[in-house]
Amino acid sequence: MTSEPDLQQFFRVAEDLLAEQGPNPDAFGRVGSLLRPLAADPKLVDPSRLAALHNSSAGFTILGHGNGGSTLMLGRFRSDAPTPVHNHNSWGVLCVIRGRDRHILWAREDDGSQPGRARLRQVESQELGTGEIAWFPDVPGDIHSQQGIGGDAWELVYFARDPTTRSRLYFDPDRERVEERAPV
Ligand SMILES: [Fe+2]
Repeated sequence: MTSEPDLQQFFRVAEDLLAEQGPNPDAFGRVGSLLRPLAADPKLVDPSRLAALHNSSAGFTILGHGNGGSTLMLGRFRSDAPTPVHNHNSWGVLCVIRGRDRHILWAREDDGSQPGRARLRQVESQELGTGEIAWFPDVPGDIHSQQGIGGDAWELVYFARDPTTRSRLYFDPDRERVEERAPV
């Protein structure tokens, strides 16, 4: 997919920053500051661009890739139900374009030795408004769920690697189950 010129500048600066600093909270905060001006573009809020995400009412499209393989996604999260709890095989930094988002970070407590079983606990729940940023760490800390609050939440999400190219884990924390599935 081709990217618009301003996105190429973003990818260059963000990839250099991550290469220099590594995926740590300081670097994620700086990347979030780079996302904020991109998220101010009202043209991004366009439902016709979106495909279904997580087999749910959430929607997404990939906006572009950097030369190093990092990936920028546009996502819309409904308020009627949260996304499933899932991973991405990557860290991610997100910035809200419009609306409010409840972003929950989860941690896996079991060792993964029992097929189909997983025990999770919530480690953080944040409410994010327009222009606010958050991040989730790299594997294995990249487990999260999201939901719009009072309406749709639109977001930019920046990943180290394209989250649509590998199968991912979907968790059911109440039943302590996990399943590997195609990513969308
Ligand atoms: Fe996600």
